[in-house]
Amino acid sequence: MSAVALASVKASPGVTTTAVALGAAWPAGRQVTLVEADPAGGDLAARYGLAAEPSLLTLAAAARNQPTRALAARHVQHLPGGLAVLVAPASAEQTQAALGMLGPTGAVLCDVDGDVLVDAGRLDPRSATLGLVASCELLVVCARPVLAELHHLAARVEALRPAAAQLGVVLVGAGAYPRAEVAEALEVEVLGVLADDPGGAALLAGGAANPRALGRLALLRGARSLAEAICARLSAGAPPSTGEPSSWPGEDAGDADATRRHATEAASAPARAGRR
Ligand SMILES: Nc1ncnc2c1ncn2[C@@H]1O[C@H](COP(=O)(O)OP(=O)(O)OP(=O)(O)O)[C@@H](O)[C@H]1O
Ligand SMILES: [Mg+2]
Repeated sequence: MSAVALASVKASPGVTTTAVALGAAWPAGRQVTLVEADPAGGDLAARYGLAAEPSLLTLAAAARNQPTRALAARHVQHLPGGLAVLVAPASAEQTQAALGMLGPTGAVLCDVDGDVLVDAGRLDPRSATLGLVASCELLVVCARPVLAELHHLAARVEALRPAAAQLGVVLVGAGAYPRAEVAEALEVEVLGVLADDPGGAALLAGGAANPRALGRLALLRGARSLAEAICARLSAGAPPSTGEPSSWPGEDAGDADATRRHATEAASAPARAGRR
């Protein structure tokens, strides 16, 4: 089982859309659960006409009352087509309260059979999901390949590098900056490129359609390649050490406070200026 966090650094480049597309395109034979943990509040229940509960909030209450293994599975709902989703309340206050109740690393969220895709929302230096992201094997930052978004990403990439065991980027939609150029400028692996597919994104978010039946969409075709690249990255494991301390966030799940502190410090460290 692997946990992958998806996040943005600014704007709304399509994290939630990418997470759903990835879940729909996840390799057959690998079970996957989509966990909505955006501190700004969830979108999935509204987009897909799901019930407000069960949700992150009911899970947090249950975990506090009676923590048991694999509790999260009892609080998921299913999108058309069967993708398991743990939805966040629409309210930022309730979502952040639930994340707070689940503890700094939100370990219960990733205690499910199979892989977990976490929609961590916008990752600012004080984000409530930093500890959760630190416990994931891979952080995938979504950004549009346009100057303004890449500039923000460049300014945060050094702070984000230690925020999870591995870091990758996915470029979403139209823009002037090709994959290789972004990878070289930011010194980060670009795991995938998702087409600018407003129709596909709208259809995917429309709720009526079964995401798994939309394989012909450019967005879903890109998501399939991205899913394969992510799974390959996970199988390959973390790249050789870059000299960071071995007790970097995520490696010592038992010391949750230290993990949270470290991730917070890392995310607020001065960022190296981008080359663009
Ligand atoms: N590949 C894509 N091509 C075109 N439009 C897209 C694509 N992905 C997402 N969008 C559109 O971008 C908008 C934002 O998408 P989404 O809600 O997934 O972003 P987000 O980063 O999760 O935003 P937020 O920060 O509000 O949670 C939506 O209108 C969505 O339809
Ligand atoms: Mg979102």
